[in-house]
Amino acid sequence: MTLGQPHGGILINRWDPKFNYETITEKVELDEIAISDLDLLGVGAYSPLTGFLTEEDYHSVVEKMRLLTGEPWTIPITLPTTEENAKNIEPGSFVKLEKDAVVYGIMEVSDIFIPDKTKEAKYVYKTTDRNHPGVRKLFDRPNVYLGGDITLITRRPISHSGAYRYDPIETREKFQELGWKTVVGFQTRNPVHRAHEYIQKSALEIVDGLFLNPLVGATKADDIPADVRMKSYQVLLESYYPKEHVLLGIFTAAMRYAGPREAVFHALVRKNFGCTHFIVGRDHAGVGNYYGTYEAQEIFNHFTEDELGIALLFFEHSFYCNKCESMATTKTCPHDESERVILSGTKVREMLRVGEQPPKTFSRPEVIETLISGLQKKTTDF
Ligand code: ADX
Repeated sequence: MTLGQPHGGILINRWDPKFNYETITEKVELDEIAISDLDLLGVGAYSPLTGFLTEEDYHSVVEKMRLLTGEPWTIPITLPTTEENAKNIEPGSFVKLEKDAVVYGIMEVSDIFIPDKTKEAKYVYKTTDRNHPGVRKLFDRPNVYLGGDITLITRRPISHSGAYRYDPIETREKFQELGWKTVVGFQTRNPVHRAHEYIQKSALEIVDGLFLNPLVGATKADDIPADVRMKSYQVLLESYYPKEHVLLGIFTAAMRYAGPREAVFHALVRKNFGCTHFIVGRDHAGVGNYYGTYEAQEIFNHFTEDELGIALLFFEHSFYCNKCESMATTKTCPHDESERVILSGTKVREMLRVGEQPPKTFSRPEVIETLISGLQKKTTDF
């Protein structure tokens, strides 16, 4: 296994700000998910993908968790449009990819197809329940998919934390500059609480650097907004993390809440950013009770280490234990559940929104203060 190589061997670059699209008349309106995906496709974060999935690749990803070429890929990266709009588009033609009258890219349309969304939901999300935020989004999006290679022309704007956006080529350079040979990637859509800090620092004991890579694309409405979270990460890093071993950078994808499938996707994308290791803890990318606590770890058994090309660091449920007087996991703590400080994400968000402080053993006070004051102000996601 060669660690740190892009998935598929080559870092894709399909960003051309000078691309002339004047003669292209047809267009597709991008939604929040698609604009994120276009941007990440363009800079190679989704290598080896060069565009939105063609019909054959789509079926292969949905059913087999692999691209037609055999490489592991677990989340279908799709471009939906309405039936009405699809009628104007010919296979083989070019379309502009727009959002609010700005052209962000173009696509050479090779495939126009109607997906079986119930099947996609069953395979990818393991449920067709519309209460699942990812499934709801899947069904809410238009019903025709367009597949084909893209060219990214305009970068998607970020109203906050723009300075923390690094493309895969830049993170790779940064890791080199920092002298890191091994780098662990950490995905999160939440503030960094003590449990997250514990698993990050446990990982950091065995690698050179931590790439703290919070997802700041579209999330469900009750998740903590990205701009508020970003402030809390900065405050935490400032006081509790060694600067020479940590890089904070945003991950601009939308959250799918696809649990196990999304864990593999998250790992492969971080591999493209140059990470050699990736953390998967309890219920990674999960929501509600749709997935088993460690299902997002077990799914990696479908692939060999070689084809993944990134080393997985699995952690059991972590918490503060009053008897141990330290952070621990179900693997290292012998005590009763009543000794463990465990709060659900929903509970914590409720507390923060009414200005109530979770215990210090759950989250650093500096983080809590930043979150409470951030949530009281008007916030924007992007
Ligand atoms: S996620 O949707 O981005 O996965 P979250 O931000 O809560 O959600 O989790 C980030 C990472 O930390 C995931 O790998 C998750 O499995 C892990 N994690 C979160 N909480 C715990 C915990 N208490 N114990 C162990 N791992 C955890």
